[in-house]
Amino acid sequence: MYKLSIALWAFIGAILCQDVVAHEARSDSLRPAFLLAGALHRDGQDLSGQWTYSKDLYRTGLTDINGWVAKSRMQRYRDIDVAAVEAKGGVDFFEFDLDRGPLINLPGAWNAAIPELRYYDGLIWFQRKFNAQPAAGKRAFLRFEAVNYRAYVYLNGKEVGRHEGGFTPFVLEVTDALRAGDNRLVVGVDSTHDAQSIPTFITDWDLYGGITRPVRLITTPATFIDDAMVQLRPDGRIAGEVRLQGPQAANQAVTVAIGALATARAVTDAGGRAVFDLPAPKGLERWSPEKPMLYDVRFSASGDTVRDRVGFRTIAVKGNQILLNGKPVWLRGISLHEEEFSPNPARNMTEQASRALLHEIKHGLNGNYVRLSHYPHSETTVRLADEMGLLVWSEIPVYWTVDWDNPAVLRKALAMQAETIYRDRNRASVIMWSVGNETPVADARTRFHVAMADNVRQLDPSRLVSAALLVKHDGNALAIDDPLADKLDVLAVNTYAGWYGSDKLDAVARLKWRVPADRPLILSEFGADALAGYKNDGMKKFTEEYQAEYYRQTLAMAERIPTLRGMSPWILKDFKSPRREHPVFQNGWNRKGIVSETGVRKQAFSVLADYYRSKQ
Ligand code: GCU
Repeated sequence: MYKLSIALWAFIGAILCQDVVAHEARSDSLRPAFLLAGALHRDGQDLSGQWTYSKDLYRTGLTDINGWVAKSRMQRYRDIDVAAVEAKGGVDFFEFDLDRGPLINLPGAWNAAIPELRYYDGLIWFQRKFNAQPAAGKRAFLRFEAVNYRAYVYLNGKEVGRHEGGFTPFVLEVTDALRAGDNRLVVGVDSTHDAQSIPTFITDWDLYGGITRPVRLITTPATFIDDAMVQLRPDGRIAGEVRLQGPQAANQAVTVAIGALATARAVTDAGGRAVFDLPAPKGLERWSPEKPMLYDVRFSASGDTVRDRVGFRTIAVKGNQILLNGKPVWLRGISLHEEEFSPNPARNMTEQASRALLHEIKHGLNGNYVRLSHYPHSETTVRLADEMGLLVWSEIPVYWTVDWDNPAVLRKALAMQAETIYRDRNRASVIMWSVGNETPVADARTRFHVAMADNVRQLDPSRLVSAALLVKHDGNALAIDDPLADKLDVLAVNTYAGWYGSDKLDAVARLKWRVPADRPLILSEFGADALAGYKNDGMKKFTEEYQAEYYRQTLAMAERIPTLRGMSPWILKDFKSPRREHPVFQNGWNRKGIVSETGVRKQAFSVLADYYRSKQ
């Protein structure tokens, strides 16, 4: 009886998850209200720079002690000049004032910006005042590239929207709330994670709370191009879609110019959507890491224009090969957290900071691939990968464990996937969407990942699906024993033999692998800690010599896996993690980087660079 009820629940769970995916993707309900594709090139005001802030550890600006609405004297988002009201005297008083609050430079995590906020994990309110001249017939939007983890957005005292998720963009229309002259933007940011967030509060990376990527005020015509997708299809034709929003969205002529090579024409339907396709123009050069050719693509309709720089390539799996533009490719990569070179990183990924990291991969390591772990990285980084010629593995932070049985959490994951895919689906560098990292095999977990894989395939059938799986170490062989593997185009596995566990370093090279022969495999992680400069102390763990030998042994092991088609060792650069507190070797840093946090290369760096040179 007991067994039956488990099977029954599993069946119900399976129906629930499938139902969530089917419903979501079918009704396009995962599409955000606004995308503002091409936002980076649109007219607008960058709101980066000095903001003021107000700590709110007990969330008094949102709710009162008994869960009622907050007291007005604590509502940070109110559109009032506190000093002026106080100057008049009277009974009113306040327990905040964002006009006279302390200053902070945004974007960037508060943990790195203000010493007293180093380990602050909670709600902080930020304010930025700015001048605007709203023009008749124009629409105004706020676009946040990322806020970690929950955002509550108010303009001139009016709530204009909320968002959950620390790594994907969101767009809020503010046409009605914007006023001529001075405007007051207040954003509540709650960094706390819980058992229902994605990720949960258990990760191996630092807090990084706050407005971590740029915020811009963007204006558009009344009817504008909200989405503009273009891709090279396996059949050799270029195809895509354009979506208009606004009163004149229907029956509008659309033109799509692919550089100076060709132009496609279409007309929007009653819903403002136009699809187009055309034969790949003669002379079209395929994008590849060796030749990252990008074309200026201009989408025009209804008096609006959106520009994008797009590379055209195909990616596929055939047997146990990964084919880029129809030819086998071997992924010479490394994993990367979104953290700039710095002794005190703020996750402020400027173009210069990102270029410094990707340059080490492309030119230091002779790499052609980067695993952007464990969450969607900044659009700046993905666009640089397009420009510099690095293939990209992209993932959302379904990491270690989430609340697998909770349909609301699944919907959150599917929405996060959609926000990532809608943002990056024009990026030639992105070839794989991963649906998870090191999640323990169990029925509910597998159903959750299958739902994510189905969702990716419905949103973007053009790219490959993978996941970083746990490896099974049964004595003398390493194997993948995971029902999720059947749903993946590319198998990927994290392996740490020689660092975690009891394998002696000199036994690693001889380890055998039992993996399916008909699918490509990549080693999505392997690594060992080393403190840069800790040398000449025998082969002790945390020495550079140990890490270098670990790489030699693991690469020798890798060479014996016949279906291996790439790797992204863990990790390019040492990164902040409150899990890593050895007072001599770590001090809050995970030291598996082959480069230190300030860019000092360790001995293992040249071991990997030489290996990749031999693979070129
Ligand atoms: C795991 C995990 C990483 C983590 C690494 C480590 O594989 O995916 O996020 O940092 O191990 O233990 O260093």
